[in-house]
Amino acid sequence: MGLAKPVENYTQSEAASLAQQLRDQLADYSQAYYTQDAPLVEDHVYDELYRDLEQLEAAFPVIVTNDSPTQKVGGQVLPGFTKVTHEIPMLSMGDVFSEAELAAFDQRLRKNTATEIEYNVELKIDGLAIDLIYEEGRFVRGATRGNGTIGEDITQNLKTIKAIPQKLTRPVSIEVRGECYMPKAAFADLNQKREAEGQEPFANPRNAAAGSLRQLDAKVAAARQLSAFIYTIVTFDDVQATTQSEALHVLAELGFNVNPTSVVCQNMAEVQAFIEQYQGTRNDLAYGIDGVVLKVNDLALQRQLGNTVKVPRWEIAYKFPPEEAETVVREIEWTVGRTGVVTPTAVMDPVQLAGTTVSRASLHNADMLRDKDVRLLDTVLLHKAGDIIPEISQVVLDKRPSDSQVYAVPTTCPSCGHDLVHLDEEVALRCINPMCPAQMKEQLTHFASRNAMNIDGLGPRIITQLLAKELIHDVADLYRLTADDLAQLDKFKEKSINNLLNAIDASRQNSLERLLFGLGIRHVGAKAARLLAEHFQTLAALMASDQETIITVDTIGTIIADSLVTYFADSQVQTLMAELEAVGVNLTYTGVTKAQAATSDSYFNGKTVVLTGKLEQYTRGELKQLLEDNGAKVTGSVSKKTDALIAGQDAGSKLEKAQSLAIPVINEAGLDNYLAQ
Ligand code: IVH
Repeated sequence: MGLAKPVENYTQSEAASLAQQLRDQLADYSQAYYTQDAPLVEDHVYDELYRDLEQLEAAFPVIVTNDSPTQKVGGQVLPGFTKVTHEIPMLSMGDVFSEAELAAFDQRLRKNTATEIEYNVELKIDGLAIDLIYEEGRFVRGATRGNGTIGEDITQNLKTIKAIPQKLTRPVSIEVRGECYMPKAAFADLNQKREAEGQEPFANPRNAAAGSLRQLDAKVAAARQLSAFIYTIVTFDDVQATTQSEALHVLAELGFNVNPTSVVCQNMAEVQAFIEQYQGTRNDLAYGIDGVVLKVNDLALQRQLGNTVKVPRWEIAYKFPPEEAETVVREIEWTVGRTGVVTPTAVMDPVQLAGTTVSRASLHNADMLRDKDVRLLDTVLLHKAGDIIPEISQVVLDKRPSDSQVYAVPTTCPSCGHDLVHLDEEVALRCINPMCPAQMKEQLTHFASRNAMNIDGLGPRIITQLLAKELIHDVADLYRLTADDLAQLDKFKEKSINNLLNAIDASRQNSLERLLFGLGIRHVGAKAARLLAEHFQTLAALMASDQETIITVDTIGTIIADSLVTYFADSQVQTLMAELEAVGVNLTYTGVTKAQAATSDSYFNGKTVVLTGKLEQYTRGELKQLLEDNGAKVTGSVSKKTDALIAGQDAGSKLEKAQSLAIPVINEAGLDNYLAQ
């Protein structure tokens, strides 16, 4: 890229039109970060376009528009990260892989210092190092390690992480370091979402966390559910601590999230016990660890030992041996998702790995399958990405059968036989046949699911039968099913027939957003569906709108808008919408608007409510929405202002606090009564 000619050779009108093209392009790119969690281009491509735009606007100031990304001072989308210098370099850490090497490290220190040595032993969190600066108790700058001397300023992204305090408990100035990580559950969710969208999954939580922090748009990082543990005080005027273990206490007192597992060990036997304990239980932790870190506990002794050119002499990482298992691939299964993405899964002889029995591992996409050259009857090594997701690390070539053949990636859909294609630059293979039965089954399952049309009792098992018996071909057909039709299903008697017919019938009255989400339009999630339904009120109004109109809806960008326009332009889709109307499905928004919510006579109207613990019937998001529809304000922490706490299972400190403040606690079973009031 770069401008086609020197900027002074442009006429003003040329410059204006090129600048507008660049703005549109840049807006699309940042939109992709935001709605899709998937950059369309690499950062440097964005940066170069941005610089082109800056040049044009600098040469022709009259062409600058208010909505130009260059005008968003301190806006969320930055052309790249500002570099910061670490006054005290962020060194790396020496590491060892065996107990013998660890013992040698300890021997060396004892010999060199001629003293007994006490260690603070901590878990080695699998994330990436961050540096945080607080001035008078306020978070002012956060940075990555970078090359150790120069890092990237990621303050805006770090501000979205709840575990990083914005304000300390005392107005002190301090620089600290720690580890930013993605919890295992969030990592699994994110990768699942990425695969369903045809994107490359992250290899491990560390990459996922790094990828999230490197997003130029802080909203993307915010959506990624990152967390952080702080483990080092770098500079602090008011240091009271003389040991690392005391330093951790000080950090916790100041409000930092400090990993609670660390222990002080007097000798290698105690260190060994700690290592064994966590090697055995690491799979149960909510975050990934890849070893333990030994730090000389005495801070004065740390200073005396100092650093080599690369690493401190007073600390060392012991890395856990990788948990691996060997097994044989029996089959490669190809499954077709709702959007037509076709993914390969290796089916293997069951084997124990890191606490579970594993017999299946996703190969993610055809490229990965080819790169790893996995073949039928190959012996493979398995590991768990991020400690949870089984993955094939490599083929054991020595054990490959001599007559083995390269695995032939299918060129047609395993379900309908339609040719498979790659869309745009996607790695995923897709079946683009809209009538593909496998996609149909996934689509219908999604349509009936709880966040969509919420048709109780209509799950994949029944949908498969309905499709096989050709009782339904699309979602509109569901509304034409009769008792006679359902009587043909396995074990379907009068009661189950009536229940299902009633559930289907009840779904006719759903508010428009459920239908919009249930249709499974690319990029249109539950939240976007709700915003769209609320804005347009009727399906007809949405269908009649063009891209420019749709993007006026708050947070809806060009990617979602384009997807909607393309979807509704399709004549088959238009026929389907007409059929849905004909079978009596409601096509208007009947949900509660904010204004209506305020006049609601619900128990929750006007109340401040906090949610905690695990809920069975609802996801957090669903319940929050439901409560807001009932006029409640949902907040994150319990205080005197809280009117009620809704507590699911395993509720912890919030429940204790609510009880101590005598705030009403509602459990899930009681919730329905309150909602009905
Ligand atoms: S102390 C910035 N303590 O491991 C150096 N590091 O392999 C801080 N790490 O770069 C060293 N848990 O990102 C320390 N409890 C812990 C740690 C830890 C994870 C990371 C850190 C470091 C890397 C070295």
